Formats: sequence, C-alpha cells, structure tokens
Amino acid sequence: MLWKTVAEAREGVRTAQRAGQRVGLVPTMGALHEGHASLMRAARRDCGFVVVTLFVNPAQFAPGEDFNRYPRTLERDLDLMAAEGVSAAFVPDAAEMYPRGAATTVHVSGLTDGLCGPLRPGHFDGVATIVAKLFNALPADAAYFGEKDYQQLQVVRRLVRDLNMPIDIIGCPTVREPDGLALSSRNAYLSPTDRAQAACLSAALFEAQRRISEGLRDPAAIISGIRKCILAAGPAVIQYVEIVDPQTLRPLNIIEGEGRIILAVLIGTCRLIDNVAATAPGA
Ligand code: PAJ
Repeated sequence: MLWKTVAEAREGVRTAQRAGQRVGLVPTMGALHEGHASLMRAARRDCGFVVVTLFVNPAQFAPGEDFNRYPRTLERDLDLMAAEGVSAAFVPDAAEMYPRGAATTVHVSGLTDGLCGPLRPGHFDGVATIVAKLFNALPADAAYFGEKDYQQLQVVRRLVRDLNMPIDIIGCPTVREPDGLALSSRNAYLSPTDRAQAACLSAALFEAQRRISEGLRDPAAIISGIRKCILAAGPAVIQYVEIVDPQTLRPLNIIEGEGRIILAVLIGTCRLIDNVAATAPGA
C-alpha cells in the first residue's frame, strides 16, 4: 500500500488496529539501507502491521545544509520495503505535511542545547515537529528509531513523554559496515579515500569503550585519545567529542556508571556522527 495523504494514512492505521493488529511506525527520509531495514525487522517482530514513512523533511535542514543534494531513491526504497514485508509506505509531498500557513513548531529544550544542537540551528525543532506530526497523522502503537542518531532518539523520547503521546518509542542498535563505519544515507558523499579514512571514527570509539571497561574514568583523557586516533587517520574537522549522561546528554566529569561517547566529524564534504555506550566496570 502506498499512502500519499494524511487522511489515507490515518484511516489505514485505524483499519489495521480495528482488525486487532499492533501498528509499528518507522520514520525515515528514504535512501534506505541496512540500518533502516533493521528498524523494519524490529517493527515486524512486534507488530502485525508496519508502516514506513518516507519524507525528506525540509524543516530539519539548517540553512546551507544538504537538503537539495540529499539522496532520493524512491523506486529502490519501495523495493527494499517490499522485500522486508512492510505493510504500507507513507510518502507525502511537502504541501501535504506543511500546508500553507503552518505556524506551529515543537521545541524540546535542554537536550538540544549541546552536541549537534548549536551546530545545526533549527534542526531538532524540525525533527521534533515532523515526528509529532507523523505520530498524529499515523496513530501507531509503537515507533522505531536508531541509536545511530542518539540525540534525536532522546529528543523523541522526551517529546512523547512531555506531550503525553500514546506511542511506545523503541530504540534499536546501530548497524555498521564490516569495518565499523555506521551506515548512513550520507555515506554516499564520501570519496573512496574519505570512505577508507571514515573507519577511524568507530575504531576510536570502540578503543575508548575498551579503556573505560578496563577502568579509565577520566573523560578528558579518553576524549583526547579519541581525537588523536581520528586525526592520525587523515585530515578531518572534529566538531565535537563528548562523554555524556545517556539520559540528560550533559557532559560527565567522571565515568562512574553509564555514559555515552558521542561525536561529530567532517571528513571531506561529509559530516559523520557516531556514538557508543560506555559503562564503567561494575556499573
Ligand atoms: P533517517 O536519517 O532516514 O533515519 C531514519 C531512522 O533510521 C532513524 O531512526 C535513524 O536513527 C535510523 N538509522 C539510520 N542509520 C542507522 C544505522 N546505521 N543503524 C540503525 N539505525 C539507523 O533520522 C531521520 O531520518 C529523520 O530525522 C526522521 C526521524 C525521519 C525525521 O525526519
């Protein structure tokens, strides 16, 4: 099933629910890959009816970002969804999602003050707004998001809690290439040299995770190790490397319990983000 309007989508979701099915939602911007497919599989495990939404949301691209060159591969995306047994695709156009005169924005404060927030002005407002709109348009029982976009996942969890939205948010692990690079639609921007170099991000994160599991507790020492490891691999602009509390996303002064190591790096013209859990021994 291919739905293009909110009215069709809402009716489709309600029909499935009336038939006794749990409905799972997988929001995406298309250019689908194994990471997206893993969310569809997680949704299929829990839900009789799975809807994938595919919308390159203009509101979440900051001025000067890659909205125009973002990869658009609709035919391939629909084939991938069919192969994964997805029940329906919601593919609205911009006028359907943002009718003339749309004047409402959802802002999640605090969680968006750091990490990617200041570097991508308006980005998380764009994400929170479109996610709230999708949840209202498609009143599903659960929605699946990747830990790859860790700050986004926390923003969505908070949004749903704060606005009493009746939907379960399920976080799913990051899917990686064999050399560790996290899958991303934006990896298509990497030249072959940049692609080889990009493996340094996950390598640095895994090494840091190992040092923390062995008892290193000083974030500054771990962060400086990660920076060295990335810069040793070739030219890169490190936007940030931080070790934060997994819920509040505030920087940790010492690693005692659970933490999240999270980074954003420019390699060539491609902006890459990645993160891993970091748990102190015995936590
Ligand atoms: P998009 O980048 O297409 O990602 C859609 C979903 O796939 C997100 O939940 C993202 O975290 C997940 N994902 C991407 N790469 C992944 C990987 N390597 N492993 C596991 N999951 C991965 O994120 C967005 O779109 C948009 O911001 C959206 C939420 C759809 C709102 O427009």
